[in-house]
Amino acid sequence: MEKIVIKGGVALNGEVQVGGAKNSALPLLFATLLADGTSELCNIPALRDITTAEKLLKILGAEVKAADHCYRIDASRIESVEAPYELVKTMRASVLVLGPLLARCGHARVSLPGGCAIGARPINLHLKGLEQLGAKIKLDHGYVEATADRLKGAKISFDMPTVGGTENLLMAAALAKGETVLENAAREPEIVQLAEALNSMGAQIEGAGTAIIQIQGVDKLMPLQCRVIPDRIEAGTFMIAAAITGGNVLVREALREDLEALISKLKEAGVSVEEEADGLRVQGPRRPLAVDIRTSVFPGFPTDMQAQFMALMSFAEGTSRISETVFENRFMHVCELQRMGADIQIDGHSAIIRGTAQMTGAPVMATDLRASASLILAGLAAHNTTEVSRIYHLDRGYEKIEQKLAALGARIWREQE
Ligand code: UD1
Repeated sequence: MEKIVIKGGVALNGEVQVGGAKNSALPLLFATLLADGTSELCNIPALRDITTAEKLLKILGAEVKAADHCYRIDASRIESVEAPYELVKTMRASVLVLGPLLARCGHARVSLPGGCAIGARPINLHLKGLEQLGAKIKLDHGYVEATADRLKGAKISFDMPTVGGTENLLMAAALAKGETVLENAAREPEIVQLAEALNSMGAQIEGAGTAIIQIQGVDKLMPLQCRVIPDRIEAGTFMIAAAITGGNVLVREALREDLEALISKLKEAGVSVEEEADGLRVQGPRRPLAVDIRTSVFPGFPTDMQAQFMALMSFAEGTSRISETVFENRFMHVCELQRMGADIQIDGHSAIIRGTAQMTGAPVMATDLRASASLILAGLAAHNTTEVSRIYHLDRGYEKIEQKLAALGARIWREQE
C-alpha cells in the first residue's frame, strides 16, 4: 500500500491546472449507453472511479478505447443489463446506469450500493422517480430489478434535491414517451452539463440549473461528443492549499460561477481571490480568520469542500462552526485532524473549531475521498512530517495531486508503506 508524505511549512507558489470533473465525467460516460454508435468524450480525469466506470461499461457490452484523457465508447451493442455488486460497492455512482439501461433496453439489474463511510445514502428517490415513469421495480438478492416496455413522461417532485437522482431521471426521461417535469431538481453544474450533453445528442431538455426541469421525450438519441467541465472540487482544494500555506497560486480553469459559495467564505476569512483570464488567483493571508459555514445543495457551500475548509479553519484566528446538512456522518476527518493538534468538538451535525496557530505533522489515515484531501491540506501547513495512509480514497478523485502540489513548491511525495 502507498502513503503520501508531506513536510509542511512551504508557501505554495505558481500555477496549477484543474482536470475534468469526476462527477460530471461519470454520468456522461453512462449517458453514452443511451445511443447506438460511438461517443467521444474529452478531458476525462485519470482516476480510479473512472476506471471503475470503464469496467462497468465493458461488462455491459460497450467497446471502450481511452487515450490521453479522451474516451471513445461504442455502445452499439448492449450485451448485459447488470451492474454487479463488486463494482457498485466500490463506486456508488454505478447506479447511474439504471436510467440509461432502462430507457434503452427496457430492463436493468443494478446492485443496491449499501452503506457508505459518510452516511446511509439510499437511492429510494431514484427508484420512486423511475416508478413514476412507469417502471416496475423489485428487489431481488440485493439487486434492483427494473423493467418497462417504454417509459412514460410524468411529473416527479423530489422530496429533496438529489444529484444522482436528478441525473438518473434526466437520462431515463430523455427517451420516455411524452413530457416529464422534474420538480425540486438538483441544480449543480454537473446537472447542467449532463442536460446540455443530452440535448446535443438530440434530447429536448429545458431548465437545467433551476429547480424545475422539463424534458420532452424523444425516440432516439445520437452518440455524444463533449468535453468535461473543470472539476470545481479539485479547483477548490487547490484554492485552499494556497490559502492554508499563505501562498499565491493561479488555479487554471477554476470557474468563478461554479465556486461562488467557497469564494465568498474564503474572502470572509481574509483570503484574496481574483478572477484572471484563465482562472482564479488565490493569495493566502498570514493567518485566516474564523468563519462559519453550513453545507447545502448548489449554489450553497458544497459538502464536498467541507473537510478541506475545516483543515483551513483549524489554523484560523478565532472559533468557527461548520454545519453539515447534506450527509449525516461526514466528520470522519475530525479525529485525524485532532491527531495533528486541531481543537475540534463535534456537536450533533456541527463541528466547533477553535483555531490554533500551529499544528504538527502526524501519521494519519484517510477515511474517504474528501477527508483525505483535508489531511493533505493540513499536512501542507503543519510543522514537521505528516504521513497520510489509505490513499486509495484520494486516487478515486484527485489525479496526481502530490505531483501538482510538488510543482507549486510543496515538499510532498508518494511512497510504499
Ligand atoms: C453526489 C456527488 C457527491 C456529493 C453529493 C452531494 C457524484 C458522483 N457524487 O452524490 O460527490 O457529495 O452529490 O453534493 O456526483 N438521498 C436520499 N435518497 C436518494 C438520493 C439521495 O435520501 O434516493 C439523500 C442522500 O442520502 C444525501 C442527500 O440526499 O443525504 C444528497 O445526496 P445526492 O445529492 O443524491 O448525492 P449523490 O448523487 O450520491
